Amino acid sequence: MTLDSTARSPGPGGRTGDLLSLRARVVPRGVSTANPTVIDSATGSVWTDVDGDDWIDFTGGIGSLNVGAGHPAVVAAITEQAQRLLHTCSHVAWHEPYLRLAERLATMVPIDPPVKVMLCTTGAEAVENAVKIARAATGRPLVVSFSAAFHGRTWMALSLTGKERPYRNGIGPLVAEVRRVPFGEIEPLSELLAAHGEAVGAVIVEPILGEGGFVIPPADFLPRVAELTRAAGAVLIADEVQTGFGRTGRLFACEHTGVRPDLMVLGKSIGGGLPLAAVAGRSELMDAPGPGVLGGTYAGNPVACAASLAVCDLFADGSLLERANALGIHARARLEAAVEAAGVRADVRGLGAMVAVEFFDQAGAPHTAMAAAVQAGCMRRRLLTLRAGMDDNVLRLHCALAIEEELLDRGLDVITDAINEAAPG
Ligand SMILES: Cc1ncc(COP(=O)(O)O)c(C=O)c1O
Repeated sequence: MTLDSTARSPGPGGRTGDLLSLRARVVPRGVSTANPTVIDSATGSVWTDVDGDDWIDFTGGIGSLNVGAGHPAVVAAITEQAQRLLHTCSHVAWHEPYLRLAERLATMVPIDPPVKVMLCTTGAEAVENAVKIARAATGRPLVVSFSAAFHGRTWMALSLTGKERPYRNGIGPLVAEVRRVPFGEIEPLSELLAAHGEAVGAVIVEPILGEGGFVIPPADFLPRVAELTRAAGAVLIADEVQTGFGRTGRLFACEHTGVRPDLMVLGKSIGGGLPLAAVAGRSELMDAPGPGVLGGTYAGNPVACAASLAVCDLFADGSLLERANALGIHARARLEAAVEAAGVRADVRGLGAMVAVEFFDQAGAPHTAMAAAVQAGCMRRRLLTLRAGMDDNVLRLHCALAIEEELLDRGLDVITDAINEAAPG
């Protein structure tokens, strides 16, 4: 490993430059990239680009690599499974990894038993299926979601997504049967359900906003949402695609609140780097759709299931969760010190290893340019980061939960330098 965190001038050359030119010619601009580089290989939290430069990764592929890139146990499980059986399609014939994973996830989710699990390929697809299940179970048309929520890029998932820019910009009209209410507030939801509750089939909520900026709602928010949803006879869907699998220091963020959802949507880190997602839920709801309504050609592919079973094993002894909490405490303390020393107005927040810095200008307005400048400073020092929030003024960290302490500190040094560089005066 040849990590070099000195700042370099922007503008990639070499193979990276050639491949980014190719990208501009053959890939539409709609598929955008936070960090314009081209990665060739990755281990843990070190990603190496096609010119041989090492980068520290604080993105985890947007939270899909909580166990780190290329974890040896995951790669071994994938290799073994790939040699045995690549694919059947569960609509043709079952395979054991699907069934074992469904059994395993059913015991892990905080949902009242008996629980059933269906597998699919992406988080958005899982959201679509959760809504189908809720509709089949209730026969009611409306689905309620929250402002600033992100649920994916497919049609229903996009309709539920509250973050207009960039996701829904110029794309409408979307699904009409969606109603959105402010995240973190109870009164608007309560009024909506009082007026239209009989038509509401489901309420879908992220326990903590992911793309919306790592926003933690008041402690009573999720319990009150659950209470109101149940009172209206609707289904509570918790979208834990981003918060799940250890990110918040518990296996699922709902566990911090005591809320037991009816359905849960899982994705990202569940697959350890392979495309896999799931809907888990109370059996009576999960069995509402008839045979053939749920599934998909690659849904629950054997290799992805084998990877996921290895991920479940890695979480079994609780040490990764302990690590997530320690990582978060350390990172937040260092980031708080960094913004204070630089005299920058910012909110450092998070839960477990879900860590963010939201930048404001001196008037207290979202400071998008500051967040962009910090991210660019990180990029010049070869640290991969992401932004989030309605105004893209939030720098968020998705470090691998077991990132080595030295790497974590080097990455935090880089952010500190980038904040100092971007700080006014
Ligand atoms: C909370 C949440 N739900 C759903 C999705 C969609 O997942 P995917 O991109 O795998 O379709 C995401 C992706 O970021 C997400 O954060």
